[in-house]
Amino acid sequence: MKKLYIVAILLALAFIACQKDVPEPVTQPEPLLAVPPGFPAPVFPSGNELTSARWALGKRLFYDPVLSNDSTVSCASCHLASNAFSDTMAFSPGVAGRPGVRNSPTLANIGYHPYFTREGGVPTLEMQTLVPIQEHNEFDFNILLIAERLKRDTAYVRMSREAYDREPDAFVITRSIACFRKNLRERTKPLRPVFFQGKLRR
Ligand code: HEC
Repeated sequence: MKKLYIVAILLALAFIACQKDVPEPVTQPEPLLAVPPGFPAPVFPSGNELTSARWALGKRLFYDPVLSNDSTVSCASCHLASNAFSDTMAFSPGVAGRPGVRNSPTLANIGYHPYFTREGGVPTLEMQTLVPIQEHNEFDFNILLIAERLKRDTAYVRMSREAYDREPDAFVITRSIACFRKNLRERTKPLRPVFFQGKLRR
């Protein structure tokens, strides 16, 4: 009987010793910046360096219809992740179904462009954010009023403080959405409002 105990203890010790030899699984954290092979890293201007808090805030705003006057259209309504952040139709509808006058271009590699929109009149991605916000056929809204909306949302206030150490304002909105677009990498189901017999459907 005593022998059996000793054998059992030896076996248990051997088991524990073997357990120790099993290496810990190494989990590599996913890098924040996804740069395709052969590409240089996009430039993030000072004051808008890439951080996960800024990227997450920009991504949330990109998909949020809160940016449009009647809260029906988001950036992702016209720049569909499933279509390289362009659209499947010739003229994407903005607020109240108003059709645009140009095709929504892809935002793939947008972080490398030296200027923006077809005429090239907008010099930075940060400034380009203002274009769809004010366009009559897109958001038909005003960045200051968007900031007021966001200040009433505790989740946005928390994210904005975390990302830029300030309340949601024009700086935070333009910078964070630019930060997300320079590192576009997630295929997410787009939100597209559909106008059907006068009723808005999602
Ligand atoms: C109603 C559809 C619509 C919405 C909503 C929209 N866009 Fe666009 N976007 C367009 C169209 C159309 C153009 C082409 C405009 C031009 O060249 O004059 C464009 C152009 C752009 C460009 C310039 C691309 C280039 O190659 O120069 C960027 C960047 C962009 N949009 C980002 C955004 C962001 C960010 C939002 C949300 C804040 C947004 N868009 C909302 C339709 C839309």
